[in-house]
Amino acid sequence: MLSDDLKRQAAAMALTEVQPGMRLGLGTGSTARHFVDLLGERVRDGLDCLCVPTSEVTAAQAAGLGIPLTTLDETPELDLTVDGADEIGPGLSLIKGGGAALLREKIVAAASRRMIVIADASKVVDPLGKFPLPIEVNRFGLGATSRMVGAVAAAHGATGAVTLRLGKAGDPVVTDGGHLILDALFGRIFNPEALSADLHNVPGVVEHGLFLRLCDRAYVAGANGIETMDA
Ligand code: 5RP
Repeated sequence: MLSDDLKRQAAAMALTEVQPGMRLGLGTGSTARHFVDLLGERVRDGLDCLCVPTSEVTAAQAAGLGIPLTTLDETPELDLTVDGADEIGPGLSLIKGGGAALLREKIVAAASRRMIVIADASKVVDPLGKFPLPIEVNRFGLGATSRMVGAVAAAHGATGAVTLRLGKAGDPVVTDGGHLILDALFGRIFNPEALSADLHNVPGVVEHGLFLRLCDRAYVAGANGIETMDA
């Protein structure tokens, strides 16, 4: 089965958890896109919900489908966020940010009572770290921040480089918040909690893509069906 079909199956499972009147966080990426599409069908059929998108791309998709949108300023507490992930590790630890939306994704997930991740089975790993860890940084002082992130990465046994993410045209990718993204290839992340703390201690780091103790459930679609993983 195609990976895209698996993503849609996982999205459909997450949709079964949506109840009328819920306040929802809407993730970003190709898997979350399926969820938003399916939610749009339910809204068209009369479902009442209020949603906070985690990116401008998702906001545009949701608005186009007629999904009612709000902000965390108006609605600071959400019932459920459904999002994708780049890696799902032990204890439902996650790497996110492949789509450069990690900052808003983390803020929205943290504002939600529950977070469900939807993915195809290729995303499940042990340990985390094959996918380069996205780190959102302020534009000011990029060279100095990169060096300090590199030192943290080396101290945590990184096997690869820390690189500035570039877009197709070769220019730096700029996030919805106006920041840049560094991608740090670790190979294996042995101690995600300590790495998270060390990255947060680097001035200029706005946020990183390690999502720890945020995800409550994952629906993982594979060739043999959908696995439910609970934290
Ligand atoms: C965006 C993300 C995405 O959820 C992550 O990159 C997974 O994307 P996809 O569903 O396309 O594989 O974190 O910032």
